[in-house]
Amino acid sequence: MKKTRAVITGVHGWVPEYVLTNRELETMVDTNDEWIVTRTGIKERRILKGENQGTSVIGINAIKGLLKKTNTDPEDIDLIICATVTPDMPFPATANIIADGVGAKNSFSFDISAACSGFLYALTMGSQFIETGMHKKVIVVGADKMSSIIDYQDRATCIIFGDGGGAVLLEPTEEEVGVMDSMLKSDGSGAPYLHMKAGGSRRPATIESVNAREHFAFQEGSTVFKFAVTNMADVSAKIMEKNNLKSEDIAWLVPHQANKRIIDATANRMGVGPDKVMLNIERYGNTTAGTLPLCLWDYEPQLKKGDNIILAAFGGGFTWGSIYLKWGYDGAK
Ligand code: UT7
Repeated sequence: MKKTRAVITGVHGWVPEYVLTNRELETMVDTNDEWIVTRTGIKERRILKGENQGTSVIGINAIKGLLKKTNTDPEDIDLIICATVTPDMPFPATANIIADGVGAKNSFSFDISAACSGFLYALTMGSQFIETGMHKKVIVVGADKMSSIIDYQDRATCIIFGDGGGAVLLEPTEEEVGVMDSMLKSDGSGAPYLHMKAGGSRRPATIESVNAREHFAFQEGSTVFKFAVTNMADVSAKIMEKNNLKSEDIAWLVPHQANKRIIDATANRMGVGPDKVMLNIERYGNTTAGTLPLCLWDYEPQLKKGDNIILAAFGGGFTWGSIYLKWGYDGAK
């Protein structure tokens, strides 16, 4: 009997309209365009403005576009998994709010918290729901409104993050395409280097915690950078080795967009040239769980059925990992 795999049958992204440029950041913190571009590769990022606009707005817009372009009835969706670290609220899950917002009345839905690796975790899990044969249409959405947890007085952190996300539709196939392999890792001893100090059960919000600016993402950038370079490159090389893939077999590397220097190091380690690396960090910065689907959305017109694609990410937790997939269709839907 042929193995049932999960294949991506559509992708769609969404970013808010407001563009926060490096020039505008220069008016907010002691930084400059040249430093940001040289150290990170980022020129601008998007910010979701307005009252009551949470991460669900990003997810709903991305999924509405996805349903339209794939001609899918929302009532046929079995499951929605949302990867995010900026949920609309601690509970209910943002995925529930998104499912309601898109009219996915027959689906169940839940969130996954794995920071910048969230989309990899959610895609792996979504694929397994398809592979069991229990579900036919699963949507995986990666989205973050990072501006809601960024301290715009912290120049080392605020310059890299932005808001946005994207969603993919997974369906079963018996062809040799789809999600072929996945390697996921986590190490909680990395928590001190990238975390939010207050607002959880350990240290609930108080006037003191707000005044101490403890409800923002704290990052020890240079430490995270070192771990990211090593682990993202290692796991990408390992998944290639495990699947007997040489660099010339790879059509695309889809790297988490945190820092252009981390992306370059990963591509070098895999022996993949810059023409095969998906890159949009310049325009969107680091949208955490949103970066990978936003890349797939941007590059969708160039993708071909059977393309070997490696997705790779590293982020808070620490979490990191890699997915090997074979693309399922030609060009933009
Ligand atoms: O996506 C989740 C995982 N996150 C990541 O993968 C991010 C990993 N880290 C990074 O990308 C980088 O560490 C940053 C972009 C966040 C920072 O770059 P860096 O090259 O590691 O800078 P640094 O923090 O080591 O700081 C170097 C210098 C310092 O000055 P001194 O002490 O050498 O005088 C900083 O104060 O650069 C200074 N600096 C800045 N200067 C101008 C830090 N931020 C800025 C800034 N503008 N925005």
